[in-house]
Amino acid sequence: MKNYGKYKPDYYLPPETCLDWTKRDRITSAPVWCSVDLRDGNQALVTPMELDEKLEFFKLLVALGFREIEIGFPAASETEYAFTRRLIDDGLIPNDVTVQVLTQCRERIIEKTLKSLDGVKNAIVHFYNSTSVPQRKQVFGKSKSEIIDIAVNAAKLIKSATAGLGYSYEYSPESFTGTEPEFALEVCDAVADVIAPTPQNKLIVNLPVTVETSLPHVYACQVEYMKKRLKRSDCVMISTHPHNDRGTGVADAELAVLAGAERVEGTLFGNGERTGNVDIITLALNLYSHGVDPKLDFSDLNSVIARYEKLTGMKVEPRRPYAGSLVFTAFSGSHQDAIAKGESYRAAHPDEPWTVPYLPVDPADLGRSYDGDVIRINSQSGKGGIAYVLEREFGFVVPKSMREDIGYKVKHVSDSEHRELKPSEVADIFKSEYINIESPLRLQSFTFDKSGGDVLLSMRLDNGGRDEVIIGNGNGQFDAAVSALKRAKNIDFTTSLYSEHAIAQGSDALAAAYVGLMRDGVTYYAVGVDADIMTASVKALIGAVNKITGRGETAK
Ligand code: KIV
Ligand code: ZN
Repeated sequence: MKNYGKYKPDYYLPPETCLDWTKRDRITSAPVWCSVDLRDGNQALVTPMELDEKLEFFKLLVALGFREIEIGFPAASETEYAFTRRLIDDGLIPNDVTVQVLTQCRERIIEKTLKSLDGVKNAIVHFYNSTSVPQRKQVFGKSKSEIIDIAVNAAKLIKSATAGLGYSYEYSPESFTGTEPEFALEVCDAVADVIAPTPQNKLIVNLPVTVETSLPHVYACQVEYMKKRLKRSDCVMISTHPHNDRGTGVADAELAVLAGAERVEGTLFGNGERTGNVDIITLALNLYSHGVDPKLDFSDLNSVIARYEKLTGMKVEPRRPYAGSLVFTAFSGSHQDAIAKGESYRAAHPDEPWTVPYLPVDPADLGRSYDGDVIRINSQSGKGGIAYVLEREFGFVVPKSMREDIGYKVKHVSDSEHRELKPSEVADIFKSEYINIESPLRLQSFTFDKSGGDVLLSMRLDNGGRDEVIIGNGNGQFDAAVSALKRAKNIDFTTSLYSEHAIAQGSDALAAAYVGLMRDGVTYYAVGVDADIMTASVKALIGAVNKITGRGETAK
C-alpha cells in the first residue's frame, strides 16, 4: 500500500472548540426518526423497487413506527412520481405520517416535485445543494456566494409556491462534512432567513455525512458548532444523515445526537449509497439496550429481515448488529458457560435489569428464539454449552460431574468432522453414548421385597441372549440393585453419581436417571430413560456396569 501519500484528511474543523457533547455519556430519549429507505436506499439498489414494492415497503415503515418517511425523488423518474401520486390519490398516508420528498435546487425540478405533492396533507419539502470545497471547485466551478444563491433561490421559490399549504421544509448543505463549517453556517442561515421558520414550524437543517471522511468526533464538533451558531437556533431542528464509508455511521449519528441533533435520517439495515446510510435498527436498539424507548418496534426482527430482503434484493449479513443470524450465537465454551449461568441467574432474579453476559439484549425481545440460536455447538464449544442444548432442547439436565465426559465426546465428533453439530446430532451422540446401554446386560424385569427391613431385589437380565436372575439387598432399592450387580458380576466400584428427574419435554412423561460408577480411578457414566423412575435408575446402573465390563473406558 505504497500510495497512501496521495490522500489527506478531507474535512474542516470548526473555528472554535466544540466539545460540550463529550460531557454526555448517553442518549436519554429517541430522536425524531426519518426513514430514507425509499429514496437514498432505493437509489442505491441494483434494481430499484417498483411501485408496488415501494408501497409494501412504505407500509412496513409505517407499521414499524416511522412518522417521517422520505418517499422519493419525484422528479427523478416516472415511478418515483407515480408512487407519490399513488400514496396521495389512494389515501394511503396515515394522518400522523408526514411524507418527505427530495429535490435539487433547480427550478424545473422543484416545480415538478411540488406538483407531485398536490393534495397531500403533511409534507416536508427537502431541498439540497452541494457546498463542499471539492464539489464547488470540481463539479460546479462556483464561488461561495454563487452556492449560497442556489440555495437561497430555491428556498424562495419553494416558500412562495407552497405558501399557505402548511408544509415543512428541510435544507441539506450536501457534502456538509467536506464544507468549511463557517461557510455551511452562512448557507444555512441564508436559507433560514428566507424560510423564516418558527418554533412551531421549524426548519430542518440536515447535516449530511454525504461521504464519511473523518473520525466521528470531528463530525460531532461540526454539528455542535452549527447548533450553537445558527442564527435562528430555536426555530431550527438539526438533523443528521450519516453515510458509512469509514464504517462509523452509527457513531456519527450517536455523537451528532449528543452534540445537539434532534432528528436522524437513515435506513433499515443501513441500505444506501456505497457502504450505506446509517442503520436505524442499530441506532434504535442501541437506545433500547440502554433502557430508552426507541419509539420504533423491532420486536419481530425476523419478519422485517424477510420483507426487506424480498423487496430490496439485499442480504442482511450474519454479523449485522441485532439482526444478523450469528449475533446472539456463542460457539466458544467460556461464552456458552457464562450465558448458561447468566440465564439461570436471570431466571432467579427476573426483576433485575438485564445483564446476561455476552447478550447485550434479550434475543427474545427481538423475536429471536433461543433454541438452536444462542448456543451452537462446534469444536470450540464447551461442556456448559452442550449441557445447555441437551437441557433446553431435549429436557436432559445433565449433572455437572458428567458434563466433561459428554463434552469431550461431542467436541471430538465436531473436531474430527470439522463442522458444526446440529442440536439433534448432539442429542444422538448423547443417546448412543449413554442412554439405556443394553449390551451385554439388558434389564428384563425386577421385583423388590421390603418386608424384612432391608430391601431385597430380584432382577431378571438378558445377558447376551442368556436369561439370568440375580439378587441383592441393601438399604434402599438402588443399593440393592448395586449389590446384586456387584455380586453377580464379581466387580467392585463405588457410585460417584446418582441423580434423576422427570423429562419436561415431549408428550410422553418420562424420567431420566444418571449414574456414575468409579472403578480404578475411572468413572463410567450412563443414563437410563423410562416411564418409571426406578426402572430408569436400574437401567442407568446396568448401563454403567456394561461400560465397565463390556465396553471401553469413558473419559476420566
Ligand atoms: O447523503 C446526502 O448528502 C444526501 C442528501 C441528498 C441529503 O442524501
Ligand atoms: Zn444520503
